[in-house]
Amino acid sequence: MTPTDLHAFLRSRRSVRRFEPDLVPAPVIERMLETAACAPSAHNLQPWRFCVVTTSVVRTRLAEALTGKMRADMTAEGAPEAEIEGRVARSIRRIEEAPVLIVLCRDILAIRKDEPEEVTMAVQSVALAGLQLLLAAHAEGLGGNWICWPLYAQEETRKALELPENWEAQAMIFLGGIEEEPGGKVLKPLSEIVRFM
Ligand SMILES: Cc1cc2nc3c(=O)[nH]c(=O)nc-3n(C[C@H](O)[C@H](O)[C@H](O)COP(=O)(O)O)c2cc1C
Repeated sequence: MTPTDLHAFLRSRRSVRRFEPDLVPAPVIERMLETAACAPSAHNLQPWRFCVVTTSVVRTRLAEALTGKMRADMTAEGAPEAEIEGRVARSIRRIEEAPVLIVLCRDILAIRKDEPEEVTMAVQSVALAGLQLLLAAHAEGLGGNWICWPLYAQEETRKALELPENWEAQAMIFLGGIEEEPGGKVLKPLSEIVRFM
């Protein structure tokens, strides 16, 4: 691959939200996880942990846990019933449609010191592994989408997936064959986001 090819590859990754139903072979899932685990991390502590969900029993348990919390939170905020049920139904559909769900976690024990900056560095490190996972999926010709829901449902996610106490859910990544390419995205110009000094 030339640098131009690599830039084109990196720039062409998009969030895919509609997936084909085909299963993703286990060796492909493992290859993507191995690539994700090559991400840089603060103090090389590699604080990322991954819970891979492909079975329907666990998927249903996770969907119920996440949407149960979503419903409770929206109800507490006073959202209209129709809006709550619409969002819950869409979320369940999305969880059911994605062939692979990977809950991206941070090992809260993988930290050098109990200081807020160190926690931030660990969270940043986990996010880099998440990006690397999305790019690995892109390299496989698969689509991926970062989903924030488990952040709002720590205990529910832990219970549904029987996660160890020290695994803190940061996000969930949907992966699978691409059914629908996302639409165009408007990027901020460099002049708005960069200062050259
Ligand atoms: C921290 C983070 C949280 C996100 N949460 C969600 C989410 O909950 N649901 C969703 O559909 N997409 C989510 N996304 C995907 C973004 O919407 C997407 O990256 C953004 O719109 C840019 O589009 P692109 O990924 O196609 O370039 C999230 C992305 C990040 C980095």
